Amino acid sequence: MAKEIGIIVGSLREGSLNRLVAKTFESILPKEYEATWIEIGDLPLYNEDLDQGEIPAEWQRLRDTVQNVAGVMFFTPEYNRSVPAALKNAIDVGSRPMGENVWGGKPALVVSASPGAIGGFGANQHLRQSLVFVDMPTLQQPEAYIGNVPQHLDGDHFDQSTTQFFSTILDSYLDFLERFTN
Ligand code: FNR
Repeated sequence: MAKEIGIIVGSLREGSLNRLVAKTFESILPKEYEATWIEIGDLPLYNEDLDQGEIPAEWQRLRDTVQNVAGVMFFTPEYNRSVPAALKNAIDVGSRPMGENVWGGKPALVVSASPGAIGGFGANQHLRQSLVFVDMPTLQQPEAYIGNVPQHLDGDHFDQSTTQFFSTILDSYLDFLERFTN
């Protein structure tokens, strides 16, 4: 049976460059793995009061889905040198209630993409900080800052050398993931 790998995209917009990066990663996943897209756009903002009694169905869906994947690949834009609020909210929702953090132990990959030159470096690093606290072992090298994205496109898809770079990242991540999973 194929191993499920979660994909979370920090951008909610339809034409998202990060979603395109994520789709490209999905397209080069070896057949032993299957992508599970984890959508975060409809999650109510985290509020501890809502975690008493019956919780929002969208939160339950996120928590159940994350619990069932072997690892998670994050693709994030940079908003004001940090992660978009929607992505931080998803991490918060999955981390609670106290003692029931669903992220813990799941190997993670962090990829940031931007039309700007520094490839979402700030978002990438801020995301890593949160992943430390929710106890996700995260691939350290190679790092994946995808800058100047429009220059790496060939029509509506990434050019060959960029896709090759994505393959290198993905292979390293899957090797890393296999060290943590059976
Ligand atoms: C941005 N953008 C941006 N880019 C960047 O490199 N560093 C930054 O700090 C910011 N800040 C920022 C804030 C907000 C609120 C928005 C909406 C945008 C530009 C951003 O990189 C660009 O819009 C990307 O295309 C967003 O990613 P997606 O949606 O294409 O995946």
